[in-house]
Parts: sequence; structure tokens; C-alpha cells
Amino acid sequence: MSENDLLLGIDLGTSRTAVVSSRGLRTLFDSAVAYPKDLIGVKLLGAAHVVGSEALGKSFLEVDYPLKDGVLKQSGDMQQDAARKLIAYAVQEGQPREGDRICAIIGVPANASRFNKSLLLELAQECLDLALVVSEPFLVAYQQERLVNSIVIDIGAGTTDLCGLKGRLPQPEDQSSNTKAGDYIDQLLMSAMQLRYPGLQLTKALCKQIKEQHGFVGPAEGPIEVSLREEGRPVVVDVTEELGYACQAIVPEIIEAIEYLVARFDPSDQETVLQNIILAGGGSRIRGLDRLIAAKLKPFGEVRVSRVEDIAYAGAEGALKLASELPPDYWGQLGESMLGA
Ligand SMILES: Nc1ncnc2c1ncn2[C@@H]1O[C@H](COP(=O)(O)OP(=O)(O)OP(=O)(O)O)[C@@H](O)[C@H]1O
Ligand SMILES: [Mg+2]
Repeated sequence: MSENDLLLGIDLGTSRTAVVSSRGLRTLFDSAVAYPKDLIGVKLLGAAHVVGSEALGKSFLEVDYPLKDGVLKQSGDMQQDAARKLIAYAVQEGQPREGDRICAIIGVPANASRFNKSLLLELAQECLDLALVVSEPFLVAYQQERLVNSIVIDIGAGTTDLCGLKGRLPQPEDQSSNTKAGDYIDQLLMSAMQLRYPGLQLTKALCKQIKEQHGFVGPAEGPIEVSLREEGRPVVVDVTEELGYACQAIVPEIIEAIEYLVARFDPSDQETVLQNIILAGGGSRIRGLDRLIAAKLKPFGEVRVSRVEDIAYAGAEGALKLASELPPDYWGQLGESMLGA
């Protein structure tokens, strides 16, 4: 690798993007692009748009998240433009220098469509010299050095991605992806709370906050009470039942996907696989999730479920590790998802 090569690991998430670089940089920002609502907003912002965490919390801006359900939205030029801005921002956050060859590995959901991967590469081409898209849960496994006989479950905002690791690049039958992830829980929580407390003033952001603070599955540790507003007045409401219900709603599909993936390993490896189940992504922070998954898999014998430590950066670090250990000049051998300099 030449010293002009800047390697980047990018985990382009529905809610947050993590970027790490071969020069030791680590950064995390919201996957958001915002535009002023009118000319006054342009004056207040001092720019025509803003990307990343600065895009949030300003009522005079219209916020767009270029990714939905883990993949780039495909409805129109405006959205494509937001995606382009987000990718360019991620690359800039990697702090390239004049004359660098910028080479990035970008995480995408397990089983992202070929069309979506090509679209991502097309946009990436505008600000990168070399890019490769790789399945997100595979990148987590790479970071964890658990490339054989394990299953990684990456619970993000838009998708829950699972990947069975067999010591090779994941094939379609090694992976499974569904949209029952963080955003889905927020939506369920909001509907359940609205049903029980019709006058409550709820927003998606509030429900997300409640989930992040108190999310749990299995038996509740105690009543969960939160302060909210009803017709402008402060009220305290009990959300224990609604939160437990919303968080556990992602579990059945996870169990189903694990069962499917386990059965596709060599029978003599299946016992080992069941002891190497790894949770990653923001959703893995839900209390009790590891225990509940292990309990539901009891009929399979001894099951061990662990969590990655560096939840926010595991995917991006895996991407950088892969980029460093596999020189960019060989990326072409990894198949279709490649663009050349
Ligand atoms: N403590 C927590 N408890 C429950 N959920 C949490 C917690 N912290 C974060 N989350 C949820 O995790 C999700 C974000 O996870 P992550 O950053 O891995 O997603 P992403 O990579 O942006 O999305 P995707 O992988 O689907 O594109 C959000 O739904 C967020 O609310
Ligand atoms: Mg993710």
C-alpha cells in the first residue's frame, strides 16, 4: 500500500454513519441532510444545506434521511442528491489530503439488492477512487475475528441483518435481512402508547428516546414511567407494557432467521455455531435480548449469545481491517460490487 492511499471503513447506517480511517481517525454522525425551509432559513444557516449531526434539532430546516430500511431511497433526483451529499460528507470526514488515492469499503445490509449496491457505487464514484460494498454483518464478524462457525446479528434502525460465517465471503444463502429493527420498534411503541393514552403528544423522536433509555425484553425490572405532555400539560405515564411489547416484536423473526441459518451449516459444526451467536448494532443494547434469544433457542441445545463491545464502530472498523488486510489492488477479485480507479 502506498502512503498516498487513504483507506476508509464506512458503515453507512439508516440512522447513523461511522467512518474510520487508516490514519487513525474515528467519527460518527447522523445520516441526515437538511435544507432551509425558506430564505430566512438560508440566512440562519448560512448555507444551502447541512449534513450530519448539525442537520438535527433546528426547526427552520427540513430534514431528509437518504437511507430507508437500510438502503438508499430510490424515489427521485432530490433524494439521490441527498444521498450524494451524505456520501461526500462521509468521505470528507475521513480527511483526505491532496493527491490521496481514497479507497473505501462501505457496509450495506445483508442481501441488499444488486441495483441498490450499484446505485451506491455510482454515487461513491464521484468522490472515491476505489470502493467496495460488503455485507454489514460480515464486516462485524471480520472485526471480531469470528469468520468461521458463527452467526452475527446486526440490529440497526432500518434492518436486522443476519449472516452465517463459514470462512468465506457470504453467499445469499448465508444471509438474511428483515425490516423489523429499531424504526419498527419506535413505530409500534408510538401506536401502542397512542391507543392507551389518546391525548398524549407523541413524536417518533420521543418514542425513540424512551426506547433507548428503557428498552427491554423479558421480565420488566420495575415499572417504567416517563414524563410527557398532554395538551401542553406535563403528565407521567406508565409505558412498561407497551415498551416490552414493542421491543419483543423483533424477536420472532430473529429466531426464525437463526434457525434457517444454523440448518445451513454442516451438521457437525452446528453445535459450535450455536455457541457463537453475536449481537451487534444499536438494537443489541435492548436489555435482556441476549438472554431471551438464548432461551428461545433452548430446543437446539447449549446456546451462547454475546454482544460486540464497540457497538457504534464495529462495522466500520471491520471494513477498515478488511481494507488494510486485503490490498485495494485486489478488490477487483471480490466480484461485481467493485468500481475501478
Ligand atoms: N440503548 C438502546 N436501546 C435500544 N435501541 C437502541 C439503543 N441505542 C440505540 N438504539 C437503536 O439502534 C438503532 C440504531 O442502530 P445502528 O446505529 O446500528 O443503526 P444504523 O446502522 O444506522 O441502521 P441500519 O444498520 O439499519 O442501516 C436505532 O433504532 C436506535 O434507536
Ligand atoms: Mg447498521
